[in-house]
Amino acid sequence: MDPKNDRFSFRCICRTGMECGSFFADRVMIGARCCGSVVRLPDKDGESARRLSFERETSRLKLILAEPRDWKLLLPMFAGKENHHYEISAPEDKKTLIRSLKQCQFPRGFKKSFSLRFRAVLKETAETIGTVSLTTEPLFLTGVIGFMFHHPFWGRGFGTEAVTEIMKFGFEEMNFHRMEAACDDQNEVCIRLLRRVGFEDEGCIRHWVYHPERGWVNRTLFGKLNPAQI
Ligand SMILES: CC(C)(COP(=O)(O)OP(=O)(O)OC[C@H]1O[C@@H](n2cnc3c(N)ncnc32)[C@H](O)[C@@H]1OP(=O)(O)O)[C@@H](O)C(=O)NCCC(=O)NCCS
Repeated sequence: MDPKNDRFSFRCICRTGMECGSFFADRVMIGARCCGSVVRLPDKDGESARRLSFERETSRLKLILAEPRDWKLLLPMFAGKENHHYEISAPEDKKTLIRSLKQCQFPRGFKKSFSLRFRAVLKETAETIGTVSLTTEPLFLTGVIGFMFHHPFWGRGFGTEAVTEIMKFGFEEMNFHRMEAACDDQNEVCIRLLRRVGFEDEGCIRHWVYHPERGWVNRTLFGKLNPAQI
């Protein structure tokens, strides 16, 4: 195939006619040369792109994109020392939390940071009990997942439920080719969770970082390829 002639045409949501390499058919793209929207391209030549859909839910949880105004709902978790035992970053305060929520806000923050953050909301009580973040790169081929649940809600299957759903979102809605996760090799609960939801071990970075209290931290890496693309 001649890569120069391997073109794919589509209409953006702003109705501008666009062209790109056919490798990007059915993938996510920022319409940088038209309206700047983040769109999912059609899978067939000549068809229209569409907006992404972020509405996700499981039997017990709603997963909602977090906004800067949600900081009060999230602060108890991000400021909680118990939740940071295996983290490299220190617990957050109001200022740093609002800043990081702005960086993940869709679409403005996302277009610079390539990061989204979902809040996990308990359907029964409407409490925010955790977050799952998803970070990609400019070609939208890979998604890196991270998560934190507030400690009073641990051990009830909520983490597994939310991460499973965001992996579905990553593979089905973002159409990532690959998803990744990583954690401290001492974080056994997290490692079991990642294996349970289908991630495979991809090795360990020894002495990844030096932590003042924990000493040298090893980082275990996990990956999963999109089952629809292999
Ligand atoms: C890691 C973390 C997200 C796990 O969240 P969680 O909600 O407790 O996870 P789950 O409840 O799904 O799984 C934990 C255990 O509860 C069990 N469990 C209990 N009730 C369950 C239920 N009703 N359904 C499913 N699993 C249940 C799971 O089987 C699992 O057991 P295991 O550890 O022996 O495998 C949470 O501990 C956390 O936020 N830690 C701090 C931050 C962190 O470490 N993040 C990861 C860094 S990438």
